[in-house]
Amino acid sequence: MTETPPKRGLARGAANYGDPDFALYLRRSFASSMGYSRAALEKPVVGIADTASDYNNCHRTVPELVQAVKRGVMLAGGLPLAFPTVSLCEPSLTPTSMHYRNLMALDTEAMLSAQPMDAAVLVGGCDKTVPAQLMAAASADVPSVMLVTGPMLAQKFEGERLSACTDCRRYWARYRAGDVPAERIGEIEGKLATTAGTCGVMGTASTMACLAATLGFMPLMAASAPAVHADRLRMAEEAGALAVRLITHPVKPSELITEQSVENALRVLLSLGGSTNALIHLTAIAGRAGVKIDLKRLDALSEETPVLVDLKPTGEGYMEDFHSAGGMVALLRELRDLLHLDCKDLYGRTLAEQLDAAPPFVDRTIIHARDNPVSPVGGLVSLFGSLAPDGAILKRSAATASLFETEARCVVFDGLEDLARRIDDDALEVAKDDILILKNAGPLTPAGMPEAGYLPIPKKLARAGVKDMVRMSDCRMSGTAFGTIVLHISPEAAAGGPLGLVETGDRVRLSVKERRLDLLVAEDVLARRRAAWAPPAKPKRGWDKLLHEQVLQAPEGVDMAFLRPEGR
Ligand code: FES
Repeated sequence: MTETPPKRGLARGAANYGDPDFALYLRRSFASSMGYSRAALEKPVVGIADTASDYNNCHRTVPELVQAVKRGVMLAGGLPLAFPTVSLCEPSLTPTSMHYRNLMALDTEAMLSAQPMDAAVLVGGCDKTVPAQLMAAASADVPSVMLVTGPMLAQKFEGERLSACTDCRRYWARYRAGDVPAERIGEIEGKLATTAGTCGVMGTASTMACLAATLGFMPLMAASAPAVHADRLRMAEEAGALAVRLITHPVKPSELITEQSVENALRVLLSLGGSTNALIHLTAIAGRAGVKIDLKRLDALSEETPVLVDLKPTGEGYMEDFHSAGGMVALLRELRDLLHLDCKDLYGRTLAEQLDAAPPFVDRTIIHARDNPVSPVGGLVSLFGSLAPDGAILKRSAATASLFETEARCVVFDGLEDLARRIDDDALEVAKDDILILKNAGPLTPAGMPEAGYLPIPKKLARAGVKDMVRMSDCRMSGTAFGTIVLHISPEAAAGGPLGLVETGDRVRLSVKERRLDLLVAEDVLARRRAAWAPPAKPKRGWDKLLHEQVLQAPEGVDMAFLRPEGR
């Protein structure tokens, strides 16, 4: 008996009319109305997730990239069909783009699964888009190529190179301290982001692009090619051709996301001095494939993985410097003995084969040698203790080492409104050695775990020259930010975590050496506070309600319980 060949192209996944032949007849008939020939409609189909949006400056080049992907698909013999999905731009969303990452993942997963396609190209770039698309790809398990928009270029303004968004924060901190006048800050506003593309430093978008390449979802150098470079369009064309190749040589996301490749990605995150947000996103992506990230393992890796990349916010360079210095190829070659070299990419090549085939060039001013690292240990550490029973994170590569061992009185803000109301009040009782704590800003709150962990230095201290203080919260911080900032305290205050019980005047101890974060308050005092504690009100409808009912804590990547594999 001959086997029926698997359905492909438009014949995949018929709409349910109770008559599959009629369903395909109808689908072809309607597709024909768009002017496709019968020959075109019989080709294998590559779906292209199109995230162009007038709200998303980081995706300004997406229409051009989609055209180049289509060219690549057609030259390789496929039919490209682009479809829109949710698109998230970091500064454009309230309360925060993080509140919608899982919505974009859900939308993208549904469209990858429901529409007929044999492979996909996911065009993303801005912070939450790449994680959402990879989470979707992992859950739908459709062979998928990741194509990022690429970083913007840093441009000189009056002799100084500027790019979003470390320089935005640096200038804003100087403005708050009274070093930069209002007219100047207004002038600089128009000089910080001057080309298309994602933020030009090793922030979340750049870190996620590097991790996506490490996992094998795109060629290594595609992580860093600038958005406006012609190579970016050639990479888009290659992404289209690669997607067609995946139809006959399938490599599914579940084959790329393994314990080994995730560990490689953690090593890369550490050696980049990469974004703390990337840890949450990588945890969510890995979780969709059933791979768990253990914060204690991260900590162990951090002790033996040096920071090698000298880029802002931890160093000096910009993404274009990383690319021209040899990019991910040069970095992975330097880390070679620490990596699982048999992990494969979408071409089926092992990491060892990719590195062996790549040119040997490296610019040591940006990508350091192992014997001359930017830092001998990794960029992130995890902390545990009575204030963070399930863990917290500190980006030590962007912090002030003299604050690593701190025991101090804390000044507590109950939420973002309280922070905004009091932080610059001259009557606020705060000293430079105090610890600033923000609570009620985690994933369960209406704030939605925003990038508010970079609490501003109170104006009166900033004007007195204070540049850094220990700051702690249950929210996140931008990948482009810097300071001695403890993030993702878990469980969050709104989930009943000890953070919710902290009051101004309590003493808190941070020890990076011991990886501890402790609230130094007697248990009977905490018990009284716990008895008086009440959870925040629950949202009543829509996405807010669904998210609130299902969202998990930071150690689970802030994913939603019903979207994890065990929720199937
Ligand atoms: Fe999109 Fe920074 S705002 S990457």
